[in-house]
This record gives sequence, C-alpha cells and structure tokens, in this order.
Amino acid sequence: MDNSTKPAQLVHCIYTSVANEKYDHDEMVYLLDIIRTNNKKLNVTGMLLYDDGSFFQVLEGDRTAVNALFNRIEKDPRHSKVSKLVEEPITTRSFSEWTMGYSNVTTKELSNIKGLNDFFMDNNCFTELDQSRAMKLLNEFKNGRWRTRLA
Ligand SMILES: Cc1cc2nc3c(=O)[nH]c(=O)nc-3n(C[C@H](O)[C@H](O)[C@H](O)COP(=O)(O)O)c2cc1C
Repeated sequence: MDNSTKPAQLVHCIYTSVANEKYDHDEMVYLLDIIRTNNKKLNVTGMLLYDDGSFFQVLEGDRTAVNALFNRIEKDPRHSKVSKLVEEPITTRSFSEWTMGYSNVTTKELSNIKGLNDFFMDNNCFTELDQSRAMKLLNEFKNGRWRTRLA
C-alpha cells in the first residue's frame, strides 16, 4: 500500500444500544443491506451482534469515517441508549473481510465465554457491558468464535 491509499488513522469504535423494536430475520436482512452498501463506500468494516433486543457493534476504519458514521448511527431511531465503550487506534482490522458481519447470538452461547459466563448467566444484556468486557467479547471473535457463522 503506498502513502496515498494508507488510512490517516485506523481506529475501532465499539458501542452497545437497545433496539426500539424486536428485529426479525427479514428486518435484519433489510438493515444489513443498507449497512453493507454504505460501509463498502466508506471502507468501514466490523461486526454486529443482536441478542434479545440489544446490539453490540464494532466499526473499523479511518477515524474520520468511523466518527461520522457513529454520529449518524447514534441518531438512528431504530435504537436508543447508544453507548460508546471503546474508541482507539488499531494497527490492523479484525474484520477486514466483512463490510459488516452479523450474528444473532443466544444468551446461552454468550454464557459459554470464559470471563463473561457469570455476566451473561445473570441475564445481563450488551448494554450492561463495560469497556473491559466489551474487549473480551471482541477477542472471542478475533479468536474465531462465531466467525464462521457471521452472515
Ligand atoms: C444497530 C445499527 C447499526 C447500524 N450500523 C450501520 C453501519 O455500520 N453502517 C451504516 O452505514 N449504517 C448503519 N446503520 C444505519 C444508519 O443508522 C443509517 O440508517 C444508515 O446509514 C442510512 O443513513 P441515511 O438515512 O442518513 O442515509 C445502523 C443502524 C443500526 C440501528
């Protein structure tokens, strides 16, 4: 990659939110279609998890693009209580192959994650994650959990 195409600063941003309605498969497919088309243009990658009414999303890309996108997403009436947990520079993308990977996970699956079992077994949802738990969840993905299932 030469300097003209190198991102100014690669960052990731992780946030959680509460869905304002229960999403069924068709609604999710519709939303993902919009997301993936936009993200391709913005060179933003990442992944989105949905579990029982709450979202967990990782956005990766150039800082300017990620910040502008987050500001747009934050105002989206499809969800509320949007809470940014992490925004920091990264050296490489974790989801370079996904304009937005998506998985509808179950609380049971989340309860199997080492270090997060108690948290999810207590019926906590994504919106109750703190920064360190958010990073643990991200690392599970990096290490391959659900990766093959992302659609
Ligand atoms: C949970 C959630 C995640 C979203 N993620 C993205 C995303 O990664 N990229 C994107 O372009 N839009 C995303 N959207 C949709 C945006 O909020 C917005 O509707 C879309 O970008 C179209 O914006 P516009 O109507 O201003 O053109 C997301 C919406 C929700 C509810």
